[in-house]
Amino acid sequence: MPETTPVDANEAQLEVLRLRDEMAALSSELNETNQGVLALYAELDVQAEDLRQASDLKSRFLSYMSHEFRTPLGSILSITGLLADEFDGPLAPEQHKQVAFISAAARELSDMVDDLLDLAKIEAGRITISPAWFDMLDLFAALRGMFRPIVDMTSVDMIFEAPVGIPQLYTDDKKLAQILRNFISNALKFTKRGEVRILARMENATEIRFSVTDTGIGIPAELHGALFEDFSQVDSPLQKRLRGTGLGLSLCKRFAGLLGGRVGVESQPGIGSTFFVIIPLAIALEPSDEA
Ligand SMILES: Nc1ncnc2c1ncn2[C@@H]1O[C@H](COP(=O)(O)OP(=O)(O)OP(=O)(O)O)[C@@H](O)[C@H]1O
Ligand SMILES: [Mg+2]
Repeated sequence: MPETTPVDANEAQLEVLRLRDEMAALSSELNETNQGVLALYAELDVQAEDLRQASDLKSRFLSYMSHEFRTPLGSILSITGLLADEFDGPLAPEQHKQVAFISAAARELSDMVDDLLDLAKIEAGRITISPAWFDMLDLFAALRGMFRPIVDMTSVDMIFEAPVGIPQLYTDDKKLAQILRNFISNALKFTKRGEVRILARMENATEIRFSVTDTGIGIPAELHGALFEDFSQVDSPLQKRLRGTGLGLSLCKRFAGLLGGRVGVESQPGIGSTFFVIIPLAIALEPSDEA
């Protein structure tokens, strides 16, 4: 081992000092980087909060707007009702037609507003499920009554197949009815002749399948995937004449999710479509807000 001379000792001391300075510089650099990272985190937090607020605002805007629309629409509908009933004097035949147009348009707008309101409620997590025991026969009877005026005006038959061997259900019948109402109104909208058949059967020991089959225009297979998304509509000559918002099926999908189930479609152009929903016979009782 070489002997340490005073000169060597000096050099070593200098080296130690240099290293210490270097470490001090490094540690202050690290400190700065750390602060930078913390600042970035804080910024991310702010942005996440902004996003949350924006989505909240959107939902709130949708629900306020839909709510504000309902009152004037309600007045239009009741006044056209009074006019059509000739409460304040008789109408000429042409005036009857015009009043009918106004009331049909107002009803369409009001349905659209209802759909938007439902969507906003789902997005805000405000839709609650209230399950109860009920009999499917009552549900079918209510649906049949609801669509009778429309069916009477068309040459399409609406057939409810009597359900056999199906126990009572424990689920939210209003939501289930809303899903089926959407399916049936689409089926009637896109079917010019033939029939719309509604049936219920057990899917397996714990689930039930409701399906609505029509003999209408059908939907090409490549479009099936997008059907259940918001505002999705198939481009077809018939579609152009039949306005709608394209929210119906997306609401069906979300409602089915709330009931613990799922929706689906089988369809062939020119032959017809079957839209179905499969839900548990009894909804699980723990809260499930996922759509
Ligand atoms: N039974 C059906 N036969 C043929 N096409 C259908 C049928 N059901 C739905 N579709 C197609 O899927 C699209 C989306 O349906 P959806 O119910 O979501 O919207 P919509 O009926 O156009 O409008 P909304 O229900 O909001 O009034 C329809 O526009 C139509 O192109
Ligand atoms: Mg629809």
